[in-house]
Amino acid sequence: MENIFNSEKSILQEIPEFKLNGINLFVKRDDLIHEFVSGNKWRKLKYSFLQAASKGKSGILTFGGAFSNHLVATASACHALNFKSIGFVRGNELNSDSNKTLKKCHELGMNLVFLDRDTYSQRNEYDYLNELRNEYPDYFIAPEGGANFYGIIGCQEIWNEIPHKIDHIFVSQGTTTTSCGLLLGLPEKTTLHVIPALKGFDSLSEMKKLLKNTLFEEDLIEDLMQKVVVHSACHFGGYGKYTQELLDFIEVIKLKYAIPLDHIYTGKAFFALMKEIQKPAYKNQTIVFLHTGGLQGNL
Ligand SMILES: Cc1ncc(COP(=O)(O)O)c(C=O)c1O
Repeated sequence: MENIFNSEKSILQEIPEFKLNGINLFVKRDDLIHEFVSGNKWRKLKYSFLQAASKGKSGILTFGGAFSNHLVATASACHALNFKSIGFVRGNELNSDSNKTLKKCHELGMNLVFLDRDTYSQRNEYDYLNELRNEYPDYFIAPEGGANFYGIIGCQEIWNEIPHKIDHIFVSQGTTTTSCGLLLGLPEKTTLHVIPALKGFDSLSEMKKLLKNTLFEEDLIEDLMQKVVVHSACHFGGYGKYTQELLDFIEVIKLKYAIPLDHIYTGKAFFALMKEIQKPAYKNQTIVFLHTGGLQGNL
């Protein structure tokens, strides 16, 4: 399959300002990969598409909430690659005109199916997925957020584009797929810092669960977890919530470094990074922030 969402556009942008404090800071600009299939989205979807094509499927069926970056990315990738797409959306009070995200999915040819919350809650259940496989035999079924084995493997590939002599990598977290992929390829002396977008999210347990569900060995999982640091205080009230302080911060970063951030994932993660690197422990360290995109639903 032609790789139309190749990551060549994803530069490693240096932020020289911090050199004065002995910190080498870089932002891996995955947000530049594509307008809609940006950030972690193509990395998470790439192998699902390859698998779908190799199985002779003609479409992708997936799941998402009303403002899902993943739904738009899937719709956009399907549109570009000549796949059909179906999006099962959480909330039967919604329709394809309800917001910018759903309108875009519809415009891109995604067939949107609006589910009540009870039905939506079955989205990862074996029997429910089997029913869908029978009902939609031409479709490859990808989970919400692209959180499957293929997503993890796709995110691991980011290490091919990052010099291995870095001390820390920071990344925002939702389903944990991206962070699990980074963890699997993590160089020996590098620490993975995760910033959950959800309040009260148990990052380590969720990462273990995803890795376990995707067939990785338990001993290996326990070893890998030693390399993860969680910064759980930068959720700004919870998923999708924000404060004026966060919005002001996002504006400043855009003006200073020409880096656009969103208020759901990357803004919060970058805020956590800026706070963290004030600590003396980061002196003489090389740090990468992975920009996971997600700008389609911006305020
Ligand atoms: C822009 C953005 N950043 C980060 C994340 C979190 O990534 P993950 O779900 O792989 O943990 C998401 C959600 O998928 C996202 O849309």
